[in-house]
Amino acid sequence: MGAPVKSFAAPAVGSSRSEFEADVIAGLSREPKSIPPKYFYDAEGSRLFEEITHLPEYYPTRTETGILEGHARELNGTVPEGAALVEFGSGACTKVRILLDNVPAIAAYLPVDISGEFLASEAATIAASYPRLAVHAVVADFTKPFVLPDAFARMPKTGFFPGSTIGNFEPHDAVSFMRNAVQTIGPGGVLVMGVDLVKDPSVLHAAYNDSAGITAKFNLNLLRRINRELDGNFDLRAFEHHAFYNRERRRIEMHLASTRRQKVMAAGRTFSFRAGETIHTENSYKYTPGSFAALARGCGWTPETIWTDPAELFSVHVLRAR
Ligand code: SAH
Ligand code: AVI
Repeated sequence: MGAPVKSFAAPAVGSSRSEFEADVIAGLSREPKSIPPKYFYDAEGSRLFEEITHLPEYYPTRTETGILEGHARELNGTVPEGAALVEFGSGACTKVRILLDNVPAIAAYLPVDISGEFLASEAATIAASYPRLAVHAVVADFTKPFVLPDAFARMPKTGFFPGSTIGNFEPHDAVSFMRNAVQTIGPGGVLVMGVDLVKDPSVLHAAYNDSAGITAKFNLNLLRRINRELDGNFDLRAFEHHAFYNRERRRIEMHLASTRRQKVMAAGRTFSFRAGETIHTENSYKYTPGSFAALARGCGWTPETIWTDPAELFSVHVLRAR
């Protein structure tokens, strides 16, 4: 393996102000209005998402954690000795501990996340907990090509993409991501992915409309971010969190709905809202075990194993790059 590299964050190239600005201007100018969900994750957005993961209604985190705890040891023999574990959208770097505790072949950890400040601090915590592990935080937008540091180039790669963040991609973007991931991990390498499952809509509805209102805060934080970073004047009291299950498209949709007719300034432009008009902020697609395995197969991955919980709320796929 290369020289051990302790935790530090690469320069913040996750998303520049000018890209955020261009995407917000384009998104608020189109009909219907929409802004990509990757912009939820400033430091406060990352903190709010972490709060969501502890909510009683938000079943995905505890369910996926239970699946990983029950099966992680089965990855021994699948993960090559001296592997660098590349985690996509690592957030609070919590679930990776289950792999690090159960799979001794992992020699390095490369968390990749767009939320630079949060990533640097979470990666430092992992580095402190696992002194023999080489840790290098990579601030990047994984919807675009990005490079891993040279020091890890010769190590075999294993991928980890938990949380069902793949569900936040449009299906054609999920396909592009999965195809690119074959290049990042390399032929013969394994990718462990968490994918949320189609289920009773009332369970889904509760998960995205929690009684403590944290998901609403997470959604509205996007407007706070626009106000701060793009000189906006959104009145957060004049927008409401809406989340509902779209059965036909098998996705939760999140929107911010204007409670009245109004004009808002952001990024030096003026945007008009009708009463009830929404900004579509996120889709969270749900798959069946078979539909996700078919998508992966079509993108250069061979499904090796699918683990689910007894209630079949969530799935973890072990895929091998062809
Ligand atoms: N893996 C964690 C966090 C999931 S939240 C878990 O399972 O709980 C989604 C994470 O992906 C956030 O940390 C967010 O900052 C990151 N993310 C979202 N879009 C991204 C993008 N385009 N590029 C890189 N990271 C992204
Ligand atoms: C990160 N992602 C998979 C979460 C989800 O469930 O789609 C984001 C989230 N949005 C609202 N609650 C959680």
